[in-house]
Parts: sequence; structure tokens; C-alpha cells
Amino acid sequence: MSELEDLTTLVRAATPLLVIETVDEQRVIECFRHVIAQALRPLWRWTLTDGLTRLDFSAPGAEVANDVNSTLEAIRAAPERGIYLLFDFDGLLGYAMSQRQLREIVQRQRSAAHTLVLVGAKVTLPEELEALALRVPLSLPDLKELAAILRGEALAWQREHGRRLEVDNDAARTLVRNLVGLSAPDARRIVRKLIYNDGALNAQDLPELMQSKFDLLNRSGLLHYEYATASFADVAGVAKLRDWVARRRAVFLAATPDPVLDPPKGVLLLGVQGCGKSLAAKAIAGGFGVPLVRLDFGALYDKYQGETEKNLREALASTELLAPCVLWIDEIEKGLAGGGEDGGVSRRVLGYLLTWMAERKAKVFVVATANAVQELPAELLRKGRFDEIFFVDLPRAEVRAAIFAMHLKRRQLDPAGFDLPALAAAGEGFSGAEIEQAIVSALYDAAGNGAPPDQSAVLAALKATHPLSVLMREQVDALRAWAQGRCVAAD
Ligand SMILES: Nc1ncnc2c1ncn2[C@@H]1O[C@H](COP(=O)(O)OP(=O)(O)OP(=O)(O)O)[C@@H](O)[C@H]1O
Ligand SMILES: [Mg+2]
Repeated sequence: MSELEDLTTLVRAATPLLVIETVDEQRVIECFRHVIAQALRPLWRWTLTDGLTRLDFSAPGAEVANDVNSTLEAIRAAPERGIYLLFDFDGLLGYAMSQRQLREIVQRQRSAAHTLVLVGAKVTLPEELEALALRVPLSLPDLKELAAILRGEALAWQREHGRRLEVDNDAARTLVRNLVGLSAPDARRIVRKLIYNDGALNAQDLPELMQSKFDLLNRSGLLHYEYATASFADVAGVAKLRDWVARRRAVFLAATPDPVLDPPKGVLLLGVQGCGKSLAAKAIAGGFGVPLVRLDFGALYDKYQGETEKNLREALASTELLAPCVLWIDEIEKGLAGGGEDGGVSRRVLGYLLTWMAERKAKVFVVATANAVQELPAELLRKGRFDEIFFVDLPRAEVRAAIFAMHLKRRQLDPAGFDLPALAAAGEGFSGAEIEQAIVSALYDAAGNGAPPDQSAVLAALKATHPLSVLMREQVDALRAWAQGRCVAAD
């Protein structure tokens, strides 16, 4: 592991202050046990509860009080240069006295050349100390280590239950692959839960694993895990989009990169309100057969004033750990239309998003939806950002008939009892959402009459509706005109 070599080199070079941000204390200790096998040094650990304990051989505990000042004094006075792993120590460095003491050790004033390692989930230091510290990222366990964790937990279960654990080997490999990105304790906790649920490890455990992993990674709270993806069978009139996705599925999911074809990166779905963009986004995840994660772009600004960019960065980084997945940015124009009144935040957000989209290597397929093109920044629409911009238009007659049939059936009405072409003709200019609404309102009216709705009831409901395409004719026409020649029709 090159990380160990790095740590060993740092210790040999007598680097005075290291910072490691992790919750995986055990892993830090293991790493340094390897380090001292190469670079012989006494290894100490400090925690608030145990104080200083020597780890490299069992010697009686140091006769030092647990408090920060006594601890630092003891370290400074230690004649032999040592490695000190100080867990959750930074939070206790509030006083000038302790900061000073630490700085003196680090600067080797009347002190041997120790290496101090501050470890914690998040280590924050006063500026002067930060300048002296070297932050080392601790890598996460790799596939081999994760597989070992899974084996270990399986064996533990078998010992406890006195029988074999049912393991589907293919599923186990997939599970291990999907643990990548988690720390060892998190991975272990999840695997244990999956095993103890039902005494088996199989493909049915995958959704729960993804959910647990998602919960751990979604620290910013900006991502939503969408349990229900859809199938293209649920969306009428997007045949071209469906075929586009189907043709790219194999390359997107391939374990090894295709020598010729770049994996697909994402699409923008532009279109008239209520025509099925959101539904199509879910169907894309269903079509690829991967989890769907929605980024709440609106909340990016509301909830975390001042932290906007940091949260976006964290959220996007989390999606990479969930890959392969679809990242859905619904109504992207709402998150980007700052208009220069927000101190440039939305410009920086756009800049970060564009860079991330261009440079990410992980298999995160972006589906952005929008229904107002004039609010979209030109940079986002430029060729090459998205693989394709699809236009989801108002449904044509045939598609309307299919939407009627779909939604009648969904509400337990037999489409054979209706004249679908006549309904489609009467629904000229209606969106899918409006057609669905007309059926729902016919159902309510009919419930009052005590009979299921028939053709005339649905026609009456259509007649009573003023579709958006009429109310907002100019906007809809402008959008369609813009899309001409710039977008690919989804239908
Ligand atoms: N093409 C379609 N096929 C089947 N159902 C549709 C279609 N279009 C719309 N619907 C119905 O209307 C509902 C709303 O559609 P959806 O939310 O996907 O539209 P949208 O284009 O995302 O609208 P908005 O721009 O308002 O977000 C869907 O859940 C579905 O029930
Ligand atoms: Mg929508």
C-alpha cells in the first residue's frame, strides 16, 4: 500500500505534525503499527478517557494525567522521539497555553523530534498551527479489504449460529463493489446488518445496501434517493429517448472502458410543462438499471447560505461514490438563475457544475430537466456539455391516445370502452399531466353520480379544462421555435 510508504517516509523525515481526518481510528492505529515496523519508534495513543497509552509493547501506562497540558508536557519531556496519535485532541486546544505548548513541540524547542498525529472526524486548528500541519488523506479500503470485511462478518455469523450462511457469490461480489467509498467501520456495519436481517447474502440485499450507503454519504442533505425509478413503458411518446438510452446501456455499465466509445455523460430534457420530463428522468434510471439520486438545487441556496459551493462539491462527490447512478437535476434553471443579484454565487455554482460535468470520471449519468430555455445560461447549452438535448413536446394525437389508455387503465377503467382517437382529438394541445387530470376529474364527477365515467364524462372534463398551451401560447410557441434545429425530439 503506497499510503503506508508515504506515512513511513513522513515519519522518517521527522515531520512534526500530521492531521488525519477519519472516523476510522482502528485503521489509523493499524497503519502506524506498520509504520513502526519500518521506522522503529515508540507508538503512543492519547484519548480523553484513557490518556496516554503505549501501543507498541505493553508497558505500564504512563503516569500522566489525562488533561491536555499534562499530556503535552509529558510528550515534550519524553527523551526518545516517538509517534503520538492524539484522538479528538484539536477540540481541546482552546487555550493559548496549550496551543503554545503544542507549537513548541512541533518547532522542537527543548523537545525531541516527535511526530504528533491529530486524528478526528473533522480536525480544525488555529491558523498558526494549521500552517505547521500536514494533512494526510487516509485512503478508504479497497476491494480486497472490503471483501475481507465481508468474509469476516460471514464467518462471525456462522460461528454464532452454528450453520452456514447462504451466500450468492455473484451477489456478494456486486455488494463488495458497491461498498467502495465507505470507511471500514461503515462497511462492516452495513454488511453485518445485511447478513443478520435474514441469514443470507444475495441480490435482494443490494437495494438496502445502496440506501444505507446513500444515507451515510448524503451529509449535505441536498441529495434525495428516489426509491421509485420508472420504466419507459410508463411514459408515452419518448421512443427516441428510450432507444438512445438502450443503445448506450452496455457501454455505460461496462466494467472495463470501451476502447472506442466514451461512456454517456448526460442529457438535458427540455420541454413543455407536464409532458413527462420528470417521468422520463426516472425512466432513464430504470432503463440503465441503476439507482436514481436527485439533487435539490433549490435547497442549495435556501438552507446553507454561504456554504453553497462547499455543499454542492460534497453532494457531487457523494454521487461519484454511488456510481453507477443517475443524477437527476430537476428544473435546473431554478438553481442557476441568479441574475447576478446573489454576489456571483450562482455563476460560481454554474462554473463548478460545468467543470465537474466535463471532468468527472465516475459513471454518474446526469439528467437535467428544464422548461424555460431563456433562463438557462448559454454555457450549459453549448455543444459537448450534454451528450444530447432532447425536446419533450406536447404529445401528438397518437401519443395522446396512448396516454389516455395508460391512465384509464391505471384507474381501473377499461380503455376498450372508450373511443381513444376521439378523446385524443378532443385533447389537442393538452399535456400528459392535463390528460391525466381530466380523467381524475371525470372520476370524481362520476363518483357523485354513482356510475363509472364514460366517454362523455371524460370529454366533458376535457372541455372544462383550459390547457396551459392555450393559456401560455406565446411561451410554448417560443420554446418550440427555439428547440427547432437545436434539440432532438424525444418522440
Ligand atoms: N408522456 C407521458 N406519458 C404518460 N404520462 C404522462 C406523460 N406526460 C405526463 N404524464 C403524467 O403527468 C404527470 C406529470 O408529468 P411530469 O411531472 O413528468 O411532467 P414534467 O414535464 O416534469 O412537468 P414540469 O415541467 O411541470 O415539471 C406524470 O407523473 C404522468 O402521470
Ligand atoms: Mg418535472
